[in-house]
Amino acid sequence: MGISQIEQQSISDLVGQYKPLSGGLLPLLHAIQGDLGYVPDAAVPIIAKGLNLSRAEVHGVISFYHDFKTSPVGRHTVQICRAEACQSMGSRELEAHAKQTLGLDYGETTADGAITLEPVYCLGNCACSPSVRIDNDIFARVNGDRFDDLMDGLLNEHASAERSAK
Ligand code: FES
Repeated sequence: MGISQIEQQSISDLVGQYKPLSGGLLPLLHAIQGDLGYVPDAAVPIIAKGLNLSRAEVHGVISFYHDFKTSPVGRHTVQICRAEACQSMGSRELEAHAKQTLGLDYGETTADGAITLEPVYCLGNCACSPSVRIDNDIFARVNGDRFDDLMDGLLNEHASAERSAK
């Protein structure tokens, strides 16, 4: 996917900023993701050239750390725990419900750009399974009804933000 000139400029500026630091690649990738919301493929050659690394080295780091996104994500990230404790308490049914109600598979974003659905493997909340993380908040004992309420909350929040912006 291509990137805009503004995004390209922003990446080049950040490369310039982190270039003098030894071990600057990771903080640079975090800074790019913080700025653009993801690390586009088109950033790899700019980073490689700026930091005097091979493209393969840059790709290797991006793919090793699962926190780096390589495509744009929604305004909210919804993660469903797929690890053992949550599975034993019904997270498989919950993920089937979530995929069906949102019309998404893992890694996909709703057409309005509101929600990206992702799997996650243990949120450290095993005693209160099944667990779901929405952005930075963790929710416990989430069943289908609770999930729907949480999604309604996200969508209402977005609708009222849009209304107040008008
Ligand atoms: S297994 Fe889901 S929070 Fe630990």
